[in-house]
Amino acid sequence: MQTVKVALAEREYPIYIGDELLGHGDLLAQHLPQKRAALITDTTLAALYLDTVAGALTAAGVRVTPIVIPAGEQHKNWHTLNSVFDALLAGRCERKTALIALGGGVIGDLTGFAAATYLRGVPFIQIPTTLLAQVDSSVGGKTAINHPRGKNMIGAFYQPLAVIADTGTLSTLAGREVSAGLAEIIKYGLIRDVPFFNWLENNIEALVARDAAALAYAIQRSCENKAEIVAADEREEGERALLNLGHTFGHAIETGLGYGAWLHGEAVAAGMVIAARVSQAMGMLTAADVARIVAVLERAGLPVTAPDFGLERYMQLMGIDKKVEGGKIRFILLHAIGSAFLTADVPPHALETALAASVAHA
Ligand code: NAD
Ligand code: GLY
Repeated sequence: MQTVKVALAEREYPIYIGDELLGHGDLLAQHLPQKRAALITDTTLAALYLDTVAGALTAAGVRVTPIVIPAGEQHKNWHTLNSVFDALLAGRCERKTALIALGGGVIGDLTGFAAATYLRGVPFIQIPTTLLAQVDSSVGGKTAINHPRGKNMIGAFYQPLAVIADTGTLSTLAGREVSAGLAEIIKYGLIRDVPFFNWLENNIEALVARDAAALAYAIQRSCENKAEIVAADEREEGERALLNLGHTFGHAIETGLGYGAWLHGEAVAAGMVIAARVSQAMGMLTAADVARIVAVLERAGLPVTAPDFGLERYMQLMGIDKKVEGGKIRFILLHAIGSAFLTADVPPHALETALAASVAHA
């Protein structure tokens, strides 16, 4: 087992990465302030792993209240959140009762927001079971639900007490979900880690094939990158915004198509291609760099062509984004592979050129 620390002074917490961690009740129980927990998961995960985790907790002397919600991005909303509050209240869950998220980013984000707000804040633990959640969403304390008008628009910064990433759970994940996780992994290379990007170019097929050693390294290196950024800028006042490379376009794709039509990682992949092409149109990235980015994403099984909503609709969708400041949309672009920056100064022609080159034409 590897342990990566998220250094947030008195709120520092560990990310445990390893195989067969779900059955280690003591690993989990040591972080609980009370021998009680609500275990929140979705219908798919309930059939696969709920018994293992609940059994391990029970064996460690913890009383467990299981709460099962429907699976999928379309359920990351106020209605589902309210059903979680109903179950917590019905189960008389208290201020020291931890909420444990067992699932992908949808479960993690929604459970985290429930933990941030139930009784004005209760302890929270993440057990991410998708590749995307193990490398990104479970780390760093961003929690949220979607609004029909925009992705993740309602939420809170709320850090977990621990993250337990059992790499064994990835064996049951659909191939498309593995690819979605690879999008966020490739993102770390693009924004700040050239050696990692080079390593990914050499190992992408091994990752798609779920080679255990390759996955373990990619998860660890991604968590190290994310932990460093979060420790430096927990509330996204600077560097953390770079983690949104491809997300301004990606969120527009997710909202524009309807939540759940494309996976988040797929939308981010197509979004990173558009961001790369905007960077090229502004004279920063070379055509060869853009081709390298497109190639590695394609080899990861990800879409590199975006839906054709038209420039006006993209601008409208992107206008509802948490990075908008003073009414201006802000974009993450690339000076070069491994060097990202945030800017509101993007000439319309660069956006137009990049979108025209990146959308699927009927
Ligand atoms: P997801 O949570 O929808 O999970 C994908 C699907 O896989 C679900 O149907 C789930 O039931 C199933 N599943 C999960 N683990 C499984 C396993 N081990 N075996 C079999 N099936 C399994 O999708 P996701 O990609 O994990 O998360 C996407 C969400 O994460 C988006 O809502 C996105 O906005 C959010 N996100 C948040 C952050 C953050 O910093 N908080 C970062 C990135 C993404
Ligand atoms: N996934 C973006 C962030 O955590 O900041």
